[in-house]
Amino acid sequence: MDTLITHIGRPTRRVDGQLKVTGRAKYAAEYDAPGLLHGAIVSSSIPAGRIVRIHTDKAKAFPGVVEIFTHENRGKAAWLDYKWRDQVAPPGHPFRPLHSDRVVFDGQPIALVVAESYEAARDAATLVHADYQPDEHRTDLLVERERSYQPPKKRSGVPKPPSPRGDAEGAFDQAPVKLANTYRIAAEHHNPMELFATTCVRGGDGKLTLYEKTQGSQNSQSYVTSVFGLKSDDVEVINHYVGGAFGSGLRPQHQLFFAVMASLELERSVRVSLTRDQMFHIGYRPEILQTVGLACDAEGRLQAVMHDATAGTSHFEDYQENVVNWSGLLYRCDNVRLSYELAKLNTYTPCDMRAPGAASGVTALECAMDELAYAARIDPLELRRINFATRDENDNKELTSKALDACYDEGAAAFGWDKRSFEPRSMRDGRDLIGWGMATGVWEASMQKTVATAKLSANGHLEIATASSDIGTGTWTILTQIGADALGLPLEAVTARIGESGLPASPIEGGSWTAASAGSAVQAACDEVRKSLLKQAAGLPGSPLADASPEDVRLNAGRLELKADPSRGISIGEIMTASGIGEIEEEGKAAPDKLQMLKYVSYTHSAIFAEVAVDEELGVIRVTRVVCATAAGRILNPKTARSQILGGVVMGIGMALHEEAMTDHHLGRVMNHNIAEYHMPVNADIHDIEVIFVAEHDDKASPIGVKGLGEIGIVGTAAAVANAVFHATGKRIRDFPMTLDKVL
Ligand code: MOS
Repeated sequence: MDTLITHIGRPTRRVDGQLKVTGRAKYAAEYDAPGLLHGAIVSSSIPAGRIVRIHTDKAKAFPGVVEIFTHENRGKAAWLDYKWRDQVAPPGHPFRPLHSDRVVFDGQPIALVVAESYEAARDAATLVHADYQPDEHRTDLLVERERSYQPPKKRSGVPKPPSPRGDAEGAFDQAPVKLANTYRIAAEHHNPMELFATTCVRGGDGKLTLYEKTQGSQNSQSYVTSVFGLKSDDVEVINHYVGGAFGSGLRPQHQLFFAVMASLELERSVRVSLTRDQMFHIGYRPEILQTVGLACDAEGRLQAVMHDATAGTSHFEDYQENVVNWSGLLYRCDNVRLSYELAKLNTYTPCDMRAPGAASGVTALECAMDELAYAARIDPLELRRINFATRDENDNKELTSKALDACYDEGAAAFGWDKRSFEPRSMRDGRDLIGWGMATGVWEASMQKTVATAKLSANGHLEIATASSDIGTGTWTILTQIGADALGLPLEAVTARIGESGLPASPIEGGSWTAASAGSAVQAACDEVRKSLLKQAAGLPGSPLADASPEDVRLNAGRLELKADPSRGISIGEIMTASGIGEIEEEGKAAPDKLQMLKYVSYTHSAIFAEVAVDEELGVIRVTRVVCATAAGRILNPKTARSQILGGVVMGIGMALHEEAMTDHHLGRVMNHNIAEYHMPVNADIHDIEVIFVAEHDDKASPIGVKGLGEIGIVGTAAAVANAVFHATGKRIRDFPMTLDKVL
């Protein structure tokens, strides 16, 4: 049984777009409640030590202040469950605000001031002071790498580096063309537009409704019930709209703990938001040092790949990401050795940030590939083609699909790569040196267990529901499209429900898996509805569909009809009325196919081409043109999909040129904790970006053929820009971001 596909694949406008641009879409901090209290978090001013005394008297006397919580009087209920881990927690123990007098990172929350108004809370918070007994602190990765270690336990969902294959050192020594260089990428901090906020509304019955900025309502619900010993029936989490998150909302943030604790203690509704400054004291993309050694023969065939990475983590968790494994699977090579180590720093635990691991690791690999191309005097794109891999040699598995060659072809054609001159400093436009560079991108295409329901009413209205989130990615829209096509309905006849912890189980929105997972679950639920519908229709007296099998019929414009003879059919309304049922509700599930996963693995790929103009006198780099050709399986909505790639490319330009946490290692503090001094690309930094989706059919990556593309846009982009800068200037910059002092 199929339907006419009319919505999937179309550049449908966001179904929530009007609500957003008219301000009617409400975000976590915009909910109100009678007698709402406001909390302001006080942050530590040292990175390591003990709080000897905390002075709260002045703040307590401030008009409007209701209570001040510190480690000395924090809620009794807190930390009942010491074993609780959130869905993506690394090994170690999640941070427990106000747990003790110990300070282990700068900006650690040491108090919460609760007041009748936001202004009073903020003002009074400046009056709280602590006396510390500082300990020695360590924040400099360049120093701490001497104490680096292999993660003792693997973080779930993040693969360890594969065992070495072949003899990488031996092959490297014997190869005619080789190089080994070290790359540094600065720590990057999450700065989505919406700050983290929780509005905890306490009902008359003591139940809590949490309007919470998170990428997973059920993850936050589980945090609250476990940490405070509450029943899930007593805690509902709502995250209908999320103003960007990029990974920062995968784990519960401090404000959730504080809003709930204060609400339970004071028996009032409480809202707590982080300030922009405090966004620099939550999870971040860790600074990372990488050495990549590559060797090839005279024809450019890779003989050895060695990639060693060291990244920072906190004192309480062994944060890990997949940084180096890409180097063992993106290109064909028999001799590969990869390693990944951590170093403890006095910072908060790093956290996932768009394409965690790949954004850093593939940057180093793809810069090294460009360097190798020049050492071998082979066109950089040609070098990639020569080493094209057709299977994943890390795991020795087949790929579900890989249209990367089409990305190379179509991206190069759109960019005009064949007009490039090989020599660095050979292209010029007035005062500007022009450079063209390229890189490959890769990211995992995965699925997670997800449940959805679909409810069809007699009036032809469909409601689909799953506890998934939309962090700006377009989940609302694509699920609506899938539901509409599955039942042959117009978009207006479909209502999606997401962003509520009470809906059918869905994982956090992350890992680029939401479209494949929630989309497949919605499709499965709708398939069940169609089956029920046919069963009802076939059973009606004199039914024109009496003998029809699911394969013989289709849904079209609210009508179940015979494919062979569309004049014979019954409308959804008639079926429901005649069979005396008001609605049909069914559940659908999606989960990775474990058996298939023994043999296959699935990745999205991209080819990124970048043009830079470098002012020779000032060192200013402009990225004047980017073409990103992506192979991501089936594209549900070219408009929202394109926006994902655009956003990823912009973040990649940020990694290349702008984003950098500047830590004063003497103080152990990030000094540029504001968006005036922490630079991100702005409109003036972004010029032409062309997004191409190449055709890629994949019937294994997910039941609906989708691979996901929330993250692939950033992977490789910084390398393409760096390679373009080399082509323009003849200078290799291996330290990101490439600020002008490094160019000159
Ligand atoms: Mo993503 S870094 O899994 O939001």
